[in-house]
Amino acid sequence: MKILLLLLGSLCLSVNGLPFSDEPSKTWVVLCAGWKGYHLGGYSIQANVYHAYQVIHAQGIPDENIIVMHYDDLAYNELNPTPGIVVHKVNGTDVYKGMKSRNFLGVLKGDPELVKKGKRLVNSGPNDNVFVYFVDHGSPNVVSFPVGYIYGEDLVFALKDMQQNNRFSKLVFYLEACESGSMFRILPNDLNIYAVSSSNATELSWECNWDESRKVYLGGYFANSWLDDCEHRDLQQESLQEQFDHMKKQLDIPGSDPKREPYPQHPVQYGDLSISKGS
Ligand SMILES: *[C@@H]1O[C@H](CO)[C@@H](O)[C@H](O)[C@H]1NC(C)=O
Ligand SMILES: *[C@@H]1O[C@H](CO)[C@@H](O)[C@H](O)[C@H]1NC(C)=O
Repeated sequence: MKILLLLLGSLCLSVNGLPFSDEPSKTWVVLCAGWKGYHLGGYSIQANVYHAYQVIHAQGIPDENIIVMHYDDLAYNELNPTPGIVVHKVNGTDVYKGMKSRNFLGVLKGDPELVKKGKRLVNSGPNDNVFVYFVDHGSPNVVSFPVGYIYGEDLVFALKDMQQNNRFSKLVFYLEACESGSMFRILPNDLNIYAVSSSNATELSWECNWDESRKVYLGGYFANSWLDDCEHRDLQQESLQEQFDHMKKQLDIPGSDPKREPYPQHPVQYGDLSISKGS
């Protein structure tokens, strides 16, 4: 299975779909920035998600199938020297462009009004493929929001619940956070779920792309490496395994950062690894 096919809801994946459904296979993409604010340790989180949106949008996934969860307090923050523009690299292009601002802030906060309306984030069925990129601050077995936490058990329980409710054919989850490996420790390998953590269970994940004029880091090492790979390789040819191998190699060397000495980090694979290899 090639990543583009995964992203586009490919034929080869829909063959594995359940026979009783006539629905064509779709791909749903969820991009979630779990933290907010224009500051060190904040900017890069939303910028990662915006750049991911640009890359995925460029691959032809319809906007109605791309769900972006973000606080949306960066582009028009009073501290932003370029109102309405967010960059992911120094002197980089605007990655905020075309972002549809929807009310997912409410969902992140567990807005009771939205819950009451029964608003579903991902309206996927058994033939569909789901890709999730989630970036946040983390600690062992937890990722945190400005209000509340998600524990590793909760995350795996939610994924199991989706699987039991036939909400996907295959699901791929990229998680970028400190100690993110700890979140997937109990993920079974028989749920058609393949997960990648940006660092192992006991190490930090780092930001990069220091911007001297903005005084913030613009990106995460993991997102930087992943999206660079997407933009510079032929995604129709590259498997998720090859992408992982590439990121692993790239993240194992310290970045060049004038402000501090960054350390290598080690992404880890979890779940059903056959998905990464293309079966
Ligand atoms: C960004 O642009 C400034 C001004 O043109 C230039 O001095 C600087 O070297 C550039 N930095 C990078 C990393 O491209
Ligand atoms: C996690 O990474 C750290 C270094 O960053 C290393 O010392 C440790 O052995 C790694 N743990 C595993 C389980 O690979």
